[in-house]
Amino acid sequence: MAASGVKLTLVAAVAKNGVIGADNRLLWRLKSDMRHFRTLTMGKPLIMGRKTYDSIGKPLPGRHTIVITRDPALVIDGADIVGSLEAALEKGAVIARETGGDEIIIGGGGEIYAQAMALADRLEITSVALEPEGDAWFPPVDLKVWREEKRASFTKSSDDEASFDFISYVRR
Ligand SMILES: NC(=O)c1ccc[n+]([C@@H]2O[C@H](COP(=O)([O-])OP(=O)(O)OC[C@H]3O[C@@H](n4cnc5c(N)ncnc54)[C@H](OP(=O)(O)O)[C@@H]3O)[C@@H](O)[C@H]2O)c1
Repeated sequence: MAASGVKLTLVAAVAKNGVIGADNRLLWRLKSDMRHFRTLTMGKPLIMGRKTYDSIGKPLPGRHTIVITRDPALVIDGADIVGSLEAALEKGAVIARETGGDEIIIGGGGEIYAQAMALADRLEITSVALEPEGDAWFPPVDLKVWREEKRASFTKSSDDEASFDFISYVRR
């Protein structure tokens, strides 16, 4: 994304086995991670695949939502609809600049993370200490390409049904 002057960040909660969801839903309840996601994304253009949008069911307040679909007839009140990742990134860059920002967020799901990984500048990963069965995955983080910049660890609590780490990766 360097050419556009806008940074691209992938934000995901990923189980130890790479699973991010099943049957179009999340597999854990982590209130702390929901707060973390809100902090990382607030005020920024937020790109997601149509299935992830369906699983959330509404545009998230305070974030300019961009939904990627191959369905040219899809209309969502309060969200921009685009037909490709490239169109989403162009739209996101325009919105970021218009709102004085310099970052676009990709919020999933598996198909969109896989296509966007090569273009990302930063990964904000919540590494969840579970190994559930699932049908959507985050791509492997290649440590020859990505460097762990920051990590904070948290143990399971009444708010969070698993232990987890917040990890920031930047390109080497
Ligand atoms: N743990 C996390 O952090 C996290 C975050 C987000 C999502 N999730 C989970 O991930 C799962 C959903 O992920 P997913 O991989 O199944 O779906 P997804 O990536 O959310 O959406 C896939 C859809 O995006 C559209 N799409 C994908 N590539 C496209 C392209 N190049 N051009 C145009 N449209 C394109 C298509 O929509 P159409 O079918 O409409 O054409 C496709 O069916 C759910 O279980 C969700 O809960 C987890």
